[in-house]
Amino acid sequence: GKVHYQDFVLKDKNFTRLCSTKSALVVNESLPGPVLYVNKGDTVFVNVHNQGGFKVTIHWHGVKQPRNPWSDGPEYITQCGIPPGGNFTYEVIFSEEEGTLWWHAHSDWTRNTVHGAIVIYPEQGKSYPYPKPDAEEILVLGSWYTYDVNLLVEQDLAIGDTLPVSDAYIINGQPGDYCACSNESTYRWQVDSGKTYLLRIVNAIMNAEVFLAIAEHNLTVVGMDGAYLKPFVTSYILIGPGQTMDILVTINQSLGQYYIAARQYTGRVVYATYDKTNVTAILEYSGNYTSPPASPSFPSTTLPSYADMEAAISFRNNLRSLHNQNVPKNITTHMYIIASMNSFSFNSSGNETVSQDSSLNNVTWVNPKIDVLQAYYSNMSGFYTEDFPDMPPEFYDFVAGTLPANASESLKGTKVKVLEYGEEVEMVFQSSNLFNTSEDHPMHLHGYSFYVVGAGGGNFDFEEDPKTYNLVDPPYLNTATLPTKGWLAIRFKANNPGVWFLHCHLEHHLTWGMNTVFIVKNGGTPQTTLREPPSYMPSCDDSPVIVLR
Ligand code: C2O
Ligand code: CU
Repeated sequence: GKVHYQDFVLKDKNFTRLCSTKSALVVNESLPGPVLYVNKGDTVFVNVHNQGGFKVTIHWHGVKQPRNPWSDGPEYITQCGIPPGGNFTYEVIFSEEEGTLWWHAHSDWTRNTVHGAIVIYPEQGKSYPYPKPDAEEILVLGSWYTYDVNLLVEQDLAIGDTLPVSDAYIINGQPGDYCACSNESTYRWQVDSGKTYLLRIVNAIMNAEVFLAIAEHNLTVVGMDGAYLKPFVTSYILIGPGQTMDILVTINQSLGQYYIAARQYTGRVVYATYDKTNVTAILEYSGNYTSPPASPSFPSTTLPSYADMEAAISFRNNLRSLHNQNVPKNITTHMYIIASMNSFSFNSSGNETVSQDSSLNNVTWVNPKIDVLQAYYSNMSGFYTEDFPDMPPEFYDFVAGTLPANASESLKGTKVKVLEYGEEVEMVFQSSNLFNTSEDHPMHLHGYSFYVVGAGGGNFDFEEDPKTYNLVDPPYLNTATLPTKGWLAIRFKANNPGVWFLHCHLEHHLTWGMNTVFIVKNGGTPQTTLREPPSYMPSCDDSPVIVLR
């Protein structure tokens, strides 16, 4: 592969959206930030210059970084933040991914405006496993807050049971025609009639899974999370935070303008506090078309509604790997992990208050003072413990509306799970409905993609559900949805030594502690051993630690 060099300059810039102007931290003055274009097998050295006012790290979402967690990026997990005025060079190694991935800040809520797409073409001289598209387009979905993103994390930690709600969703930085003061700047994708485009979609929204459709146009999904899928035709997609999708679109209609529209999938009817505004971009024909309509047509018949669980399930059932896969079949580590919201009481200036956080197997993740990777590599004790539980502390009806009160308070800790090199792991995630808060959780693992062998509603049935697993062509993803009041089963082989973060990709739940860390030990050979750290890693000395209350 080739070696590329890229500079990322992080700096504040003013943006006007939704009738008001604010300053936001972005990379190279753009929102979304610059696209990295590589071929499979390439390496990119990205020198990140932090000219903003607070510490930042960058993560290469879905890039496995074999043996190289030093450049993975999550703050307090594999590094400490790059200080204002400082810089750090990431070595981003593309080993097996092909398709679309993305990069984003991985410190506080900075990723809201610090993110961009990664396009990974097949190896030099190789082609796509589908007919070559005539051209390509990238749509990055994001969220817009009219107030300061730096306040979001504090607010999220302070307010207890609601989250900071975005003021709009955006497509390539723009809220679109359905939002105030936005018509002039709606993102327009110019297309030629008769051509077929490869559309690369990134969901960089902070806290929402969305449906997306293009009026009157079919979508042929061919890839997801940097791996190919068996192509399937659909009139809408469902994409969770962190996920990426590759779609072929043939420009074969007769009018001039069509809306590309997305809206949140909540899986439930409530959630009035979430932003439900439709975000739109315009597909604009530049070729031959007859009499353009006064306004673009909206995908009103094909864009599912907020709570359409059937539409969600039927979309996900279409996801199959293009090639039969090497799914691990001799599982040596079984984990059953409950993802839950929790309540607790605490004393703040003498006042007893009830608030919430979130957990995995009843453990709420607490960031250490020195990143886990450094502590592990240098054998420094006292920064984490190796007792993340494989099973929930207590079994009950996880999807019931009312649950035992003693299940509601979580343990706080920096508890990691240690795996021997080469172990074959099955993790079944179970969504808990404690406080009636069950919702879809996009679970993301760093350093790996994993096979999604099963998913379903209700409590996981240890006898029956494994019989329904797809061990032939399950999708190979880095972020998979644990469905509302349901379960998700994934498998992977622990063949990438290092320290790897596992978390819900709803920023709100990450902040609240729905996280843990896997330490995968070295195998016996140089090729199965963690690389040495680069000569410089940002210091942890003056890192302010975010303490979950
Ligand atoms: Cu897309 Cu841990 O991140
Ligand atoms: Cu979640």
